[in-house]
Amino acid sequence: MKTAFHQCLQNFLRSQKVLGQTSFPLQESVLRTFLQNEQLVLAEKRREVAIAHPLEFQAKQVSLASGTVTSSPIEEPKKVAFTLPDGDKETRWKWLKQQVLSCPQCLQHVAPGKKLVFGSGNLQADLFFCGEAPGAEEEEQGEVFVGRAGQLLTKMIKAMGLRRSDVYIGNIMNWRPETPNHIGNRPPTQEEMQFCLPYLIGQVEIVQPKVIVALGATAVHGLLGYDPQRRMRDCRGHWFTFHQIPLLVTYHPSYLLRNATIAAKRMVWEDLLRVMQFLKLPISERQQSYFL
Ligand code: URA
Repeated sequence: MKTAFHQCLQNFLRSQKVLGQTSFPLQESVLRTFLQNEQLVLAEKRREVAIAHPLEFQAKQVSLASGTVTSSPIEEPKKVAFTLPDGDKETRWKWLKQQVLSCPQCLQHVAPGKKLVFGSGNLQADLFFCGEAPGAEEEEQGEVFVGRAGQLLTKMIKAMGLRRSDVYIGNIMNWRPETPNHIGNRPPTQEEMQFCLPYLIGQVEIVQPKVIVALGATAVHGLLGYDPQRRMRDCRGHWFTFHQIPLLVTYHPSYLLRNATIAAKRMVWEDLLRVMQFLKLPISERQQSYFL
């Protein structure tokens, strides 16, 4: 019986005008080109699976031999468990950061030369921004929100009359979710988020902010629990609680980079005005009317 692999090989040989000629046995170079093409096709298939089914991506394996996508059992990531040490905020934060940077399960997801990323900012902050996961720039520098989205977040913070050093910024994930060939970003799976969540909870526990702002759908699913019915357009601008702390949902800065309309900017700005009101920060008339 012909497998999909044989069929692919036959098609390739036909396209190379090898089949039907007397050029057998196959030259090694012909076979090597075929296998390289197959690798490219499979990489593309993996990419499609990752984009179409990000939550299942980890559980899928593309079989080279058959060229089909098959499910394979994956080992359930263990949930991290730890008890924060006693001490002041700085001592506890340094201890937790060290735990993350030496976490073997986290480290196995980091590509050579790249870094894990832990939250940073003011440990006395009233305001805690929670994002999704490090991107290319963040894993390069080992610092949260330093790429394009981070630059926009910094501008948003300044528009609120604050400095970046006044707030704390963390992510649901401590590593950049892997993609084939390191191209693009993908949302983390539920399992990945569940694994990293205790580290984020630890940071919230240490900082004890007055407000958490969840930036984008991944932060919302990570912090409030996965709900396939939940839509950002319905829950943005609304208040929830996370570990007894008021949490406001808004769009991720990268959404604004993709959709840089005045209307979208105003929506996010209105969410930030809600936070400013809650924190009793001064709001000028000028600030009130940004993006109107
Ligand atoms: N996007 C995030 O959600 N977090 C980062 O640190 C950078 C980009």
